[in-house]
Amino acid sequence: MIQLANPLRAVLARAGALLAAALSSVALLGAADVARAASWHGDYFPNVVLTTSEGKQVKFYDDLIKDRLVVVQFFFTSCKDVCPAETAQMRLVADLLKDRMGKDIFFYSITIDPDTDTPAVLKAYAQRYKTGPGWTYLTGSKADVSTLQRKFGLLSGDLKALNEHSTSIMFGNEKTARWQKRSPYDSPEVLANLIGFTMKGATGPRISSAGSYENAKLIGEVSPGAFIFRARCASCHRIGGGDDLGPDLVRVTHRRDRLWLSRWIKEPDKMIAEKDPTALAMLAKYNNLKMPNLSLGDVEADALLKYLDDETAKLASGGAVKTGGK
Ligand code: HEC
Repeated sequence: MIQLANPLRAVLARAGALLAAALSSVALLGAADVARAASWHGDYFPNVVLTTSEGKQVKFYDDLIKDRLVVVQFFFTSCKDVCPAETAQMRLVADLLKDRMGKDIFFYSITIDPDTDTPAVLKAYAQRYKTGPGWTYLTGSKADVSTLQRKFGLLSGDLKALNEHSTSIMFGNEKTARWQKRSPYDSPEVLANLIGFTMKGATGPRISSAGSYENAKLIGEVSPGAFIFRARCASCHRIGGGDDLGPDLVRVTHRRDRLWLSRWIKEPDKMIAEKDPTALAMLAKYNNLKMPNLSLGDVEADALLKYLDDETAKLASGGAVKTGGK
């Protein structure tokens, strides 16, 4: 067992806590919840009118939820840390379900900041994150949106600041009134399988062979850098597989200054605010999608840079292409 420095241990502990939270939310749906969920139909969900990013008015229950397998998430476009990472992560899930998106599976991202997030702002966000068909962005009155958050159990008490909103996602099958709350940082394969297979009553094909934790392959020994990369970076970056939402990171440690890279990984937001010329040029190239500040410190940045060095060397010596995210 490697001796890990304290900040890194904190990151691993945080990841563990996220997983525990994800698992406990499954257990959360006990008998009482199942009985309550049995009434999760039109009499439970309000039929409030929301507006899509295309400016179309839709009724929440009749047009969006009824008879469908759906994923519901509350977010806001100006959120700098959790929402971008969450959207990028959910994109991996949508990609695994792409043959069914917009057919029997629908993703809804509902803004909790309707004053800022007009349909045009939501549309630009969807384009920036390249989220595909079957994923609808919605806005509505503040009161209606809070009612929906409450109905999904994603709002407790009064929200004092936007960034205190619950980052869990809810997904379910309106026909069977089965719903589940999960963390978006769960494994994309596990989530896709729960949404597309389990929620459907375990009929039809499984989405991926790694459909449950029991079947998940053992990853074997991973370096701290590899671990952080998979959990925090792979939803936006590949190493050697071409650009994704962010640039391909193969050879990045050769083409950029080490100190610049280390600072960028720790505080990209500050470098953008300071108008660092390299950062601004990248921003323009990548759709104005700002890399989030993921609250990493020196130890994590060093571990990540070492991992990027190692993967680049492996590729240069003809090793297997690592695709990271997808
Ligand atoms: C939500 C998406 C997202 C996540 C998550 C993310 N990045 Fe980025 N990253 C970007 C984007 C987009 C850029 C391009 C600059 C910009 O637009 O902000 C970028 C740029 C970079 C660059 C500079 C690349 C170059 O060519 O100079 C590095 C290095 C980098 N990211 C590393 C990481 C690491 C390491 C992590 C995980 C700790 C990470 N990123 C997580 C989106 C992301």
